[in-house]
Amino acid sequence: MRHLVIGAAGHAQEVAWALDARAHADGRPIELLFFDDRVPPGPLASGLGAVVGAVDTAAAYVLPGATELVLGIALPHLKAALTARLAALALPWTTVVHPAAIVGPNVCLGAGTYVGAGAVITVNARLGRFVTINVHGGVAHDTTLDDLVTLHPYAHLSGNVHVGEGAEIGAGATAIPGVDIGAWTVLGAGCVAVRALARDRTYVGVPARDLKSMRRTG
Ligand SMILES: CC(C)(COP(=O)(O)OP(=O)(O)OC[C@H]1O[C@@H](n2cnc3c(N)ncnc32)[C@H](O)[C@@H]1OP(=O)(O)O)[C@@H](O)C(=O)NCCC(=O)NCCS
Repeated sequence: MRHLVIGAAGHAQEVAWALDARAHADGRPIELLFFDDRVPPGPLASGLGAVVGAVDTAAAYVLPGATELVLGIALPHLKAALTARLAALALPWTTVVHPAAIVGPNVCLGAGTYVGAGAVITVNARLGRFVTINVHGGVAHDTTLDDLVTLHPYAHLSGNVHVGEGAEIGAGATAIPGVDIGAWTVLGAGCVAVRALARDRTYVGVPARDLKSMRRTG
């Protein structure tokens, strides 16, 4: 199978590493080609492959019936823009789970979702399309993540949490049980969500405070 990796920066190489490790574990040969508008063509430092060209050149590398796309982007707005841009290719998006991640029973992972090394998703969780669970992320029972959500490294969601589309949960941030996090909201690194958080806002601190209103009150 040929995999066209969208993005070639550090995060994309981490996703590719997870896919490569999984393929080795399964004894399946894969081919990785990287596409990025900002990283120049040439071999990547990780040794996982080379940048072939800009994102729009990916169409020229499709082998009919033997090609999938891999999302190597972590920022939700960029994920939304790039997946929309590539929809015309009508190719399947690979769901990538590192062999060192733990995924429990009755967990549903949408297409194009990535689960990094050391991440744990326990039971009865629903993750939409293009969700990113970075290394050592934690998702507990009965939690739902809508499309395009990103958990940065070591973020932890307790049980019965809901995270709306495109929300970004900073490194080491936590949500206590039952919290609802609004769509496209950002939780800063280390933030703790203890009650429902509105959509399209940025929260920081323990407990989570709206950055805009903190700035207003000085
Ligand atoms: C919350 C965040 C999005 C804010 O970014 P920003 O809008 O550019 O905000 P600024 O850096 O201008 O900071 C604004 C204020 O918030 C404070 N702040 C920023 N991030 C904070 C955090 N995580 N916790 C507590 N306070 C924080 C800053 O100290 C600053 O305070 P001041 O106005 O009193 O000086 C960003 O700091 C953050 O934490 N992002 C998470 C990124 C992450 O986890 N990446 C992982 C990559 S692997």
